[in-house]
Amino acid sequence: MDTIDCAGRRVARAAAAFLALAGISIAAVAQPAAPAAKTSAGDAAHGKALYQACAACHSIDENDVGPKHRGVVGRRAGSIADYAYSPALRRSGITWDEATLDRWLVNPSALVPGTKMFFKIDDAQARADLIAYLKQQSSR
Ligand code: HEC
Repeated sequence: MDTIDCAGRRVARAAAAFLALAGISIAAVAQPAAPAAKTSAGDAAHGKALYQACAACHSIDENDVGPKHRGVVGRRAGSIADYAYSPALRRSGITWDEATLDRWLVNPSALVPGTKMFFKIDDAQARADLIAYLKQQSSR
């Protein structure tokens, strides 16, 4: 378990570094209050670029450190048959939609205590863009 956890944290750091390069802050550091940024509808093309950070652990069509994502929007959480989810996510009773995915990406452990995904996206627009991309990969 430890090894898997360490590997997970290592890829999480790599993914965080990617997002930092993309100008997205995921660190929960105190920052001077930014002017209230309005979140607009998700941009799937930008979401696809941001998905490279998720790709440290996920892909659309293959299970990896995390489960594959094709069809995730509208799917019950923890329902890919050949992926070894945490019991917490498998039993969460969540169905993934825009609202639940947004809460998940804000902080997976807050939505599902005991989950084994440790990766957050602080930027609301980046979350909207990622969700738009996942939605696009769910509708075809
Ligand atoms: C450090 C590795 C890691 C990174 C980076 C990561 N995830 Fe995950 N993700 C996981 C793991 C592990 C799980 C399974 C969690 C569980 O079983 O508790 C998971 C589960 C999920 C699920 C639930 C899927 C299902 O079938 O129920 C979604 C949605 C998800 N991740 C989205 C994302 C998105 C979007 C990103 C990029 C912003 C991302 N993840 C980045 C490791 C990661």
